[in-house]
Amino acid sequence: MDAIQEKLNRLPGALLPWYRENRRVLPWREQVSAYRTWVSEIMLQQTRVAAVIPYFQRFMAAYPSVEALAACDEGQLMKLWEGLGYYSRARNLRRAAQIVAEQYGGAFPRTYEELTALPGIGDYTAGAILSIAFGEPVPAVDGNVLRVAARVGGCRLDILDRRQFRRWMEAAMPRGAPGAFNQARMDLGAGVCLPNSAPLCDSCPAAAFCAAREQGCQRELPVRAPKKEKRREEKTVFLLLGPEGVALRQRPDTGLLA
Ligand code: ADE
Repeated sequence: MDAIQEKLNRLPGALLPWYRENRRVLPWREQVSAYRTWVSEIMLQQTRVAAVIPYFQRFMAAYPSVEALAACDEGQLMKLWEGLGYYSRARNLRRAAQIVAEQYGGAFPRTYEELTALPGIGDYTAGAILSIAFGEPVPAVDGNVLRVAARVGGCRLDILDRRQFRRWMEAAMPRGAPGAFNQARMDLGAGVCLPNSAPLCDSCPAAAFCAAREQGCQRELPVRAPKKEKRREEKTVFLLLGPEGVALRQRPDTGLLA
């Protein structure tokens, strides 16, 4: 077996006991359902955990079920989403809820293919729902998880080329507690195996076998192709201010900044 796979196979044994002691207490972890996992994972895309918590709680109070979300008023949903950004996420949630309510009788589908066919659900979110809500041994691969895998495995492949990473991670999934394992990797990536120069290796449950630590190359991993330089554009912006605040005009549903 290749050396990287061997390292990654040791992660569940190290991470699961660590997670039991150190996991973050978060509202979507205390009461688990496919609906709650889905909504939380969509909110957590490009958004910090601390910022998501109050939005998640308000969302669940307003729309406690997939049927409630399917039947909701879009304007009200947008109001609830205000401040989270990337509004297409909210529109996709509502559209996907309508499909789950109408085509699946309100019960989330349990296969990768059916889940990724729903609006807004990609590879990562499908993996999170399948593992966390349904106990399927499927990885949920995001940037944090890739960093942990690249370092523990000592892998110098570009993490933008996810295919090989995915294969290793699929083979290393534990049959029991796959949801806890995926979330343990998220917590490790968010709190211990930090990006750039500052991983907290002394607190890491994988320190005894981490290849990057053995080789002292934590700062060099993960390898990522340099980003294309951003194009800069000059724009003029007008704000219309009045006694009641700023005037807003709703953007179209499609296109740039929809
Ligand atoms: N980031 C993305 N998904 C998460 C989860 N389930 N728990 C904590 N952080 C996350």
